[in-house]
Amino acid sequence: MNPYFGDLGDIWKHLPLAEILRLNPPRHYWETHAGSASYPLTPSLARQHGVLRFLDYAPGEPELQDSSYLRALQEYPELYPGSPRLAMRALGQEASYVFCDIDPESAASLRSEVAGLDARVVEGDGVSAIADEAQRAHVEPRDVLVLSDPFLPFERFTPDSQTPVELAASLAAAGYRLFFWYSYDNVEQRGWARDQIASLAPGVDLWCGDTLMPASFIFPDRSGPWGCGIVLANATPAEQSACQQLGHALENLSATDLLSGNDPPRLSFQLMR
Ligand SMILES: C[S@@+](CC[C@H](N)C(=O)[O-])C[C@H]1O[C@@H](n2cnc3c(N)ncnc32)[C@H](O)[C@@H]1O
Repeated sequence: MNPYFGDLGDIWKHLPLAEILRLNPPRHYWETHAGSASYPLTPSLARQHGVLRFLDYAPGEPELQDSSYLRALQEYPELYPGSPRLAMRALGQEASYVFCDIDPESAASLRSEVAGLDARVVEGDGVSAIADEAQRAHVEPRDVLVLSDPFLPFERFTPDSQTPVELAASLAAAGYRLFFWYSYDNVEQRGWARDQIASLAPGVDLWCGDTLMPASFIFPDRSGPWGCGIVLANATPAEQSACQQLGHALENLSATDLLSGNDPPRLSFQLMR
């Protein structure tokens, strides 16, 4: 269950994810922290800065009006599609899926939506489950896209398990296509996940796009900065360039969503190297 569904942090995950799935559909799609398949699109302050504003303005932005994410939102006007639904919408029967979530409600929502697909829902720790899947599945790593967006990136679920960041780095080093989402609330941590994964998986081709914004756009009672980003490993130049364009387009879209007096006053996008 993702209580933050449809906020700007979700947009800077689902917007590039949907485009990657369209540009370079994987044969296998795995998620460590899948959440529910979709959510009733109820209003909230964070969604007002996020998906509700996106629905109002993206159709007028040349770089966003044909995005796969906008199409998916428009297809289900009363529902917010979580990452599992975006993946199933894009890949359908052409892929196999592993969705993990520790929360029984999320697992039930996933089970109810995977009927007819080659899909496995794991109700339990997704880091160990995906590490096991990588050990036992006979697949080419480059045929698998792994999405990981943990709330607790340094959690070690059992003394023997990897943390989500360690799993991400080991999958990246083994040649898997990785999509890792991270967040932070201190500007000095901008791009932190890229640095961590790069130090654990030296030499792997990484791409990182980061958005920094007013914290109150996500948490209405906070001030100052909040940010999030995505780290891609083993992505094609076309995927990287599409994500870069989408990051700039999101920054343009956000130029009129201003919180004067806050530092930062608006969302900005930055490529992290
Ligand atoms: C950010 S939400 C997932 C959002 C979803 N991937 C999306 O983009 O729509 C994080 C999810 O992680 C789940 N979770 C927390 N700890 C977990 C763990 N150790 N293993 C698997 N899932 C976990 C929570 O129940 C929650 O549903």
